[in-house]
Amino acid sequence: MINGGTTLHGEVEISGAKNAAVAIIPAALMVDGVCVIENMPQISDTEMLLTILKELGAKIRYLNRSTVEIDCTDVWMQDAPYDLMRKIRASYYLIGAMLGRFGHAKTTMPGGCNFGVRPIDQHIKGMNALGADIDIKSGFIYADSRDGKLHGARIYLDKVSVGATMNIILAATLAQGRTIIENAAREPHIVDLANFLNSMGADIRGAGTDTVKVNGVDRLHGGSYALIPDQIEAGTYMVAAAATGGEVLIKNVIPRHLECISAKLRETGTIVQEYGDAVLVKGASALRKINVKTLPYPGFPTDMQPPMCALLCVANGTSVVTEGVYDNRFKYVNELRKMGAEIQVDGRVAVVEGGKRLSGAPVMACDLRAGAAMVIAGMCAAGTTVVEDVRFIERGYENFVGKLNSLGADIRIVDEPEERRGREKIVSIV
Ligand code: EPZ
Repeated sequence: MINGGTTLHGEVEISGAKNAAVAIIPAALMVDGVCVIENMPQISDTEMLLTILKELGAKIRYLNRSTVEIDCTDVWMQDAPYDLMRKIRASYYLIGAMLGRFGHAKTTMPGGCNFGVRPIDQHIKGMNALGADIDIKSGFIYADSRDGKLHGARIYLDKVSVGATMNIILAATLAQGRTIIENAAREPHIVDLANFLNSMGADIRGAGTDTVKVNGVDRLHGGSYALIPDQIEAGTYMVAAAATGGEVLIKNVIPRHLECISAKLRETGTIVQEYGDAVLVKGASALRKINVKTLPYPGFPTDMQPPMCALLCVANGTSVVTEGVYDNRFKYVNELRKMGAEIQVDGRVAVVEGGKRLSGAPVMACDLRAGAAMVIAGMCAAGTTVVEDVRFIERGYENFVGKLNSLGADIRIVDEPEERRGREKIVSIV
């Protein structure tokens, strides 16, 4: 529940990157030793993946709130908790990791946010090229390397895909020979995965460019690694500060990862000052309209499209938002309309008539980033907004309500659904 009309002021600390963590936890499965991962975000997606690894025989221990020790020395291939796998998109990384470690894999078709068709044909293309047969039946994905090992290959991705790039890197790490991935995605979390694997003994070059080279190694040893800060969590607080006209210092960020978000916010008249590991965002008294198109990194991130749309509802003028990555990522616009937003959607283009005072209303969080957008709209609106299904938000934002409260937002969780009440942490905090 959010009582709108508050401006955000103060400082907020950004947690570790969700989309790095959800690939690096499966990557730990390939390590024949103990990994200590720092800056691990406390979110339900990472909790679910840690549970899956635990069911595969990994020993998991939190050394403190954001440092987890994962020991996969004695893991073995067995049935994993498929009910959990179905809930998250990142479960497909277990294909690459299991193939790398065991030579075969069984996972479910991936779940995750529902905004249009999200095929995995590029993942399958990569695994086939490395010598694995993929079979999909009754909701499961079966992967088998033909002779027990994967072999390096040259793979051209027909579409720039974060998931396919990361999954192929995972599978290629312990393959025999050299793999070259062309037309690879360049997101910061891909670089983070490569850096993690290299610190455990892998040989991966070029991550962050459109050509990634992997020289297969025989095994990965243990070690420790710290995740990068979450680019999208940081961007969400930047947009929230700008939309509410506040002034917020966002700490523990890598400004270079936020360059496109900072640039688009400056176009609205927002002041964005960069420091070594922080950005200061000062909202303008009146926000200007902008046009924005989402693209793979280093373009404007698609995951920032819903939060930015919420901001443009309260900016002056007509903005055009083009979704360049997914074919249907505007479902949440209906929820914004319940608050008085005037947005026309035609396929991948939304035209936002800004300058309206939004009014609080009961709305749904359609998915993770849409949920964050509804909270931002609620903070800007007059009156009270109730956002249903905040479990989506908890998938990717650590302590979202607590962090917003510390910035002065009038927001609280009003209904703890039955299945969440008293949920025991999957791993004991030492
Ligand atoms: C990752 O999803 C992120 N999820 C998404 O973040 C993010 O929106 C997306 O990358 C783009 O940055 C995780 O990292 C867990 P893609 P992913 O493969 O890997 C098409 C969030 O809010 N495609 O880069 O699934 C696909 O349909 C989530 O944190 C194929 O056609 O994204 C999409 O149109 C939401 N075939 C485009 O490519 C494939 O085999 C980009 O998808 C794979 C993808």
